[in-house]
Amino acid sequence: MSDPVAESLSSVLLRALDGSPLTREEIVPLLALPEGEAREALFSAADAVRRQEVGDEIYLRGIIEFSNVCARDCLYCGLRGSNLRLQRYRIAESEIIETARLIRNAGVGTVVLQSGEDPFFATDRICRLIAGIRAETGLTVTLSVGERSPADYRAFREAGAERYLLKHETSSPALYRRLRPGSVLNDRLHCLSALGELGYEVGTGNMVGLPGQTLETLADDLLLMQEMNADMLGIGPFIPHPETPLAQTPAGDLYLTLKVLAVARLLTRTTHIPATTALGTIAPQGRLLALKAGANVVMPDFTPPIYRQHYEIYPGRSKTVNVSDFLRHLQDDIGRIGRTIGHGKGGRKRK
Ligand code: 5AD
Ligand code: SF4
Repeated sequence: MSDPVAESLSSVLLRALDGSPLTREEIVPLLALPEGEAREALFSAADAVRRQEVGDEIYLRGIIEFSNVCARDCLYCGLRGSNLRLQRYRIAESEIIETARLIRNAGVGTVVLQSGEDPFFATDRICRLIAGIRAETGLTVTLSVGERSPADYRAFREAGAERYLLKHETSSPALYRRLRPGSVLNDRLHCLSALGELGYEVGTGNMVGLPGQTLETLADDLLLMQEMNADMLGIGPFIPHPETPLAQTPAGDLYLTLKVLAVARLLTRTTHIPATTALGTIAPQGRLLALKAGANVVMPDFTPPIYRQHYEIYPGRSKTVNVSDFLRHLQDDIGRIGRTIGHGKGGRKRK
């Protein structure tokens, strides 16, 4: 006997494989898929599109978390200004550049400079850092330093930054306002369009499992990612931090996060999608499962360990092994799934 629900799902998947747009009403049932054949079919479809559109190479981006000082107070984040228990740090410019050299020497072509929204790192300081890294290492520079003015974004671009990560976090304006006191989603979206206009490759993305989020909100996140035509998409589970107001909220679900990631691959085709650290934190196989469900990027953390332990956005991150062990394990893992490490800048190939 035929099952009409299964039939309609497989017709949605077939259309998604071809690159047809999906509606919110078609996305929600994909996100609701329970364990079983249909869910595996979703992951295989995303894996097939990943192979066809961006190939078998996995691109590495080396992260340096250069300051954990943050002026904001996001309810979900351990770096929020109100968390007085966190030991704060700023890495000296010379040490950041030294770390960038390690990234280049490891054969990684891109550095991601990430921090909280730290006013100490004013425009000229960041510009100097970008120019220093460019001159000393030739690495492609990606910034992830939050909301700044269009003039700042222009200055960073002129100093040599080529990519910028700014996750929209959630597409629900009400949820955004509640979780990020004093900020509104529209400002974030304006930042993202300013970055695009300045010629940056732009990364956005969301968290899965935020309190109050529904499958419909997640479908809207996915449609927003598609509409923004971003180049990179970071999708990770929310993980509660004990020193935040969301300490009692359960973590985002591994498989729901993977389904969001898989649908993102189906909808956005040629984007770069990392297997996020947060996925690797909630499940030992999280990263590998993501690489088999649409992801094609891994971001090894090169922050010197004495600082890294304090970049506690959520708990469990500091347990990560040192970066050379991490890279060795990664090499083994990706060999086992028939993939290779990508070389070169790994920029987005738009169609
Ligand atoms: N769990 C998972 N991800 C988080 N982020 C911030 N707090 C958490 C948390 N508790 C993510 C946000 C932000 C990035 C720096 O880290 O998506 O963009
Ligand atoms: Fe600061 Fe970013 Fe954490 Fe918000 S999510 S508190 S802006 S580091």
